[in-house]
Amino acid sequence: MAELIVALDVQSREEAVEKVKLIGEPVGFYKIGLELFTAEGPDVVKAVKDLGKKVFLDLKFHDIPRTVERAVRSGGKLGVDLMTIHSVGGRAMIAAAHEAAAEFGAAAPKILAVTVLTSLDQTDLADVGIVGRTPAEQVAAMAKFATENGADGLVCSPMEVGALSRSLAAGTLFVTPGVRPAGSAVGDQKRIATPADAVRDGATHLVVGRPILAAADPVAAARAIRAEMDAAR
Ligand code: C5P
Repeated sequence: MAELIVALDVQSREEAVEKVKLIGEPVGFYKIGLELFTAEGPDVVKAVKDLGKKVFLDLKFHDIPRTVERAVRSGGKLGVDLMTIHSVGGRAMIAAAHEAAAEFGAAAPKILAVTVLTSLDQTDLADVGIVGRTPAEQVAAMAKFATENGADGLVCSPMEVGALSRSLAAGTLFVTPGVRPAGSAVGDQKRIATPADAVRDGATHLVVGRPILAAADPVAAARAIRAEMDAAR
């Protein structure tokens, strides 16, 4: 069954704890990203874990293999459940992340690879020397590369998840942001899908922020999304 992850896009530990307590039982998984982690550090991860929730630490590591290995180990010690790396960090970096995670045995954090940031278009790719491939071709190539070298899964847009889930090995994780229930505000998201569509296309985890956090009734919003996901299986 696909899991619902709420993006804790808030600025302080207090606000994060308040939101997690408010939403309560319908959500068991939270994403902590660069903004909140840079403001509050490991304490906010511990606070969310102490509330009995799983944590997706989305810091998108991209560094030399030794540094990434040690950062993943630090995440494992914090008890995080999912972490992100950039696939362009290369074969040895991806393998180092995988090996550091594996040290935690049954509690190993799963390593997700970012293929191509959705903010980049063909011109941006050419600027950094990627020519001769469309963004979609680059996504497919990096997805294969990352999963063959030790990534457990991928962060992918709702537009990519169908093709990727059909072409990669069973058991690969597909974590999909850009999800909007029918009728909810789109915000700055451009390529969106409903929760049901994302699950039918093979997403294993949906990341949803504002449709829950900014809802008048976040608990009801979370329950509705959960119900839509479950009905789509
Ligand atoms: O509020 P919303 O549902 O748009 O939040 C989506 C979350 O997923 C945010 O934390 C955002 O940074 C993240 N994300 C995204 N699109 C990507 C990668 C990450 O929306 N391509």
